[in-house]
Amino acid sequence: MADDFFIVQGLGGKRSLSGELPVRGSKNAALPAMASSLLFDGPLTLSNIPLIGDVEVMGEMLEELGAEVKRNSNGDLVIDAQPVRATSLPRELAKQMRASVILAGPLLARFGEIAFPHPGGCVIGARPIDLFLEGFQKMGAEYEEADSVYRLRAPKTGLRGADIFFRQPTVTGTETLLLAATRAHGKTLLRNAAMEPEVVFLAELLRASGAHIKGEGTPTIEIIGTEKLLRLPAQAGAPRKSIAVIPDRIETGSFLILGALAGKDISITHCEPEHIRILIELLRTAGVNVEAGKDSLLVRAPIKKGTAYKSFGIKTHEYPGFPTDLQAPATVFLTQAHGEALVHETIFDGRLAYTKDLVAMGADIALWDAHRASVKGPTPLRGRELHGPDLRAGLAYLIAAIVARGKSVIYNAQLIDRGYERIEERLKKIGVMIERVSN
Ligand code: EPZ
Repeated sequence: MADDFFIVQGLGGKRSLSGELPVRGSKNAALPAMASSLLFDGPLTLSNIPLIGDVEVMGEMLEELGAEVKRNSNGDLVIDAQPVRATSLPRELAKQMRASVILAGPLLARFGEIAFPHPGGCVIGARPIDLFLEGFQKMGAEYEEADSVYRLRAPKTGLRGADIFFRQPTVTGTETLLLAATRAHGKTLLRNAAMEPEVVFLAELLRASGAHIKGEGTPTIEIIGTEKLLRLPAQAGAPRKSIAVIPDRIETGSFLILGALAGKDISITHCEPEHIRILIELLRTAGVNVEAGKDSLLVRAPIKKGTAYKSFGIKTHEYPGFPTDLQAPATVFLTQAHGEALVHETIFDGRLAYTKDLVAMGADIALWDAHRASVKGPTPLRGRELHGPDLRAGLAYLIAAIVARGKSVIYNAQLIDRGYERIEERLKKIGVMIERVSN
């Protein structure tokens, strides 16, 4: 897997793909849900968990901590974190993935101490953890840092509820402190909290299992901590078997963009269109024919062959604004749309680097600074050799390669595998000419 790459034969601008693309469970909802197992009284069973690299790493991390993690034959993931005693995150694994820091919340709440290295992850700009540390301090924890390892200790009596205001909404920060607050003494208020669907899902999972939480999906979340461990409630007299992870909205949006650019008729199923409302609205203003159902989307090529779409500006924003994780795929769309548009990345400061590769493929993009680029279209794209800088840009390269004329080679397939399940097998089914080459 490590050095795999993809070879893609582009369609040269033809809109010929057709068929169904089922969306898998959300990576960024699955990871915190897995971390929540540390607060459970017995095994937690999660369904609709994607088979992706980051889920593997989170599973290995939980195992190294002492949990039992297994996949049932039906694909459900069962995590029993009761045997966990360790309070240090395994260094090598934690450095591979930013989301490892989520484990700090439940571990600190449960054991009163935790040590972890500065979390790694995608190269998309500075990714500090100051807001996590300040939140834990407000809950009474003390911390010290030496050699990039953070050691946190809760008061002897345990974490205390606190009034925490995030200077900047943070998705993982909100989730981590939400998990910690579930087992702290008294009331916690998380203000200016992230409102992303993944946060709402985590709050619903915890509440369904006995936690006292309200306000998720708004800027203020209130949590009343409880000593009791969590447990999935009985349903119709029988124990509830599992909880299903929400569909991946970034995968949904990326498939929609692919369908708009290269699809004759593509149906995207098992998704939650409301979670990508902003993208649907923008694509419609561009002239893309999108029909949204309750849990599916249909995208069809314009009736008049060769009709070009209109460009639109993008400004990334916290939910329900334009997701930063869809910024790169949307920029590929803009290279094929009529007009000039500004792409303004407001969340991260290293997330436009991929544009130079699109330029090498034939795109007309001017990079003004770390946050802004303008894209003039339409321009035909040519196949190339590409090295994705992060998983979302990696998928954007796949879309660009499918649209382009000629052959592209996309290296670092493992980056794409971190977030997308067997992408080549799924794309082949709708007519994409793609092969994985394993070294
Ligand atoms: C989550 O990252 C996602 N990851 C990211 O997806 C996504 O891009 C991001 O949210 C924004 O939507 C997961 O959910 C696992 P943040 P996260 O904390 O939580 C600043 C993907 O490809 N900040 O919401 O790490 C930060 O620098 C990934 O799936 C601080 O300043 O992002 C950024 O500017 C990539 N101090 C802003 O907040 C802190 O302590 C928002 O980041 C924490 C964050």
